[in-house]
Amino acid sequence: MSLSVSRRLAAATALALAGLFAATAPAAQASPAAAAAAPTPPDIPLANVKAHLSQFQTIANNNGGNRAHGRAGYKASIDYVKGKLDAAGFTTTVQTFTYNGTTGYNLIADWPGGDPASVLMAGAHLDSVSSGPGINDNGSGSAAVLEAALAVSRAQLQPTKHLRFGWWGAEELGLVGSKYYVNNLPSAERAKLSGYLNFDMIGSSNAGYFVYDDDPAIEQTFKNYFSGIGIPTEIETEGDGRSDHASFKNVGIPVGGLFTGASRTKTSAQAQKWGGTAGQAFDRCYHSSCDTTSAINDTALDRNSDAIAYAIWHLGASTPVPPGPSFENTADVSIPDYPGSAVSSPITVSGVAGNAPATTKVDVNIVHTYRGDLVVDLVAPDGSVYNLHNRSGGSADNIVGSYTVNASSETANGVWNLRVRDAAAQDVGYVNSWKITF
Ligand code: TRP
Ligand code: ZN
Ligand code: CA
Repeated sequence: MSLSVSRRLAAATALALAGLFAATAPAAQASPAAAAAAPTPPDIPLANVKAHLSQFQTIANNNGGNRAHGRAGYKASIDYVKGKLDAAGFTTTVQTFTYNGTTGYNLIADWPGGDPASVLMAGAHLDSVSSGPGINDNGSGSAAVLEAALAVSRAQLQPTKHLRFGWWGAEELGLVGSKYYVNNLPSAERAKLSGYLNFDMIGSSNAGYFVYDDDPAIEQTFKNYFSGIGIPTEIETEGDGRSDHASFKNVGIPVGGLFTGASRTKTSAQAQKWGGTAGQAFDRCYHSSCDTTSAINDTALDRNSDAIAYAIWHLGASTPVPPGPSFENTADVSIPDYPGSAVSSPITVSGVAGNAPATTKVDVNIVHTYRGDLVVDLVAPDGSVYNLHNRSGGSADNIVGSYTVNASSETANGVWNLRVRDAAAQDVGYVNSWKITF
């Protein structure tokens, strides 16, 4: 079969090249050339992220115990991050502003290349409160975004989109730096921002896994990463708008991000699915002097760092929202001839957080001698029915193809069924396999 397809394509190409298509020629069936596959996102080395955190800790220790706006530890943090980015080939800009009578700094790093009209940005606030070194809040986001940027450089990534990274000053005083950046971005520049990804507190000692509920494609990308490693997520609700993404969201830029929790208490249901201690804050050292390198949850920091790279690689490549996990049943199920009853082939889905996507994909492979006999439905765990095939195709035989189902009102986890009924006598067959992809 592949031989005849490629022969047909070769013939069509030859005709097209020769300019021989008559107006009445049937449309070529060739599908558009497949887009180059997005390169695989890297595994961000936890040790590198932690090495940046140690540097932030040292900077705080040497500068009165903090890295707050207007203090020496803040500027030292800016210098550290800028040095790493400059050495890795980024174009860096330090933007200054004044707040509370002292100079504040934002650091912006552009990765050369990509479509200047479509910019993907990731950022984190670099300042701490004055009462502590701010290693989780927000050395964690700052270090992980830095390491993701360095990974872009190591890979010499050439994404479709232009990539930009930002470290914000004076977040703790009211999102001051990020507001300043956005307010001073001409509207033509704002319009080029396809998305802003924010990371503020991603290594909380008693971590939860929270995804911002904002732009759906960004949110889905993060959820796909976590489903892929089997970690359930929840929607971030501990004070929406309490970090720098709000500055971007307020002017209509699509935003998303990750968060492992601050002063809220972990419930027992959350401790059951994520581990850690119920009845205790996600971060007991939030905004206090014990927010040091010893208060970091390495596993959470590692997963979230990898999620950042995953999102940058996928969203920066302009690929559609990548498919999440797939589940398949390859057991044959014979379909009795009419008037026999319908048969079902079940698939048990687990570990997929939240609802199925609007682009749930169902691949069907049914061997049959007359597809026009068959009615094929996807049945969701709660019994909702989505018809995939209703006796179309007449006397053609098998049903081999994929269907996109908007199953966004269905919980993903549970037992899904492919249900097949034969509605006319004589021809018979069986379900060979089917697969559902979230
Ligand atoms: N720096 C934030 C703050 O002090 C921490 C925070 C609280 C947060 N809730 C959040 C960050 C929700 C992101 C999302 O407010
Ligand atoms: Zn913060
Ligand atoms: Ca039949």
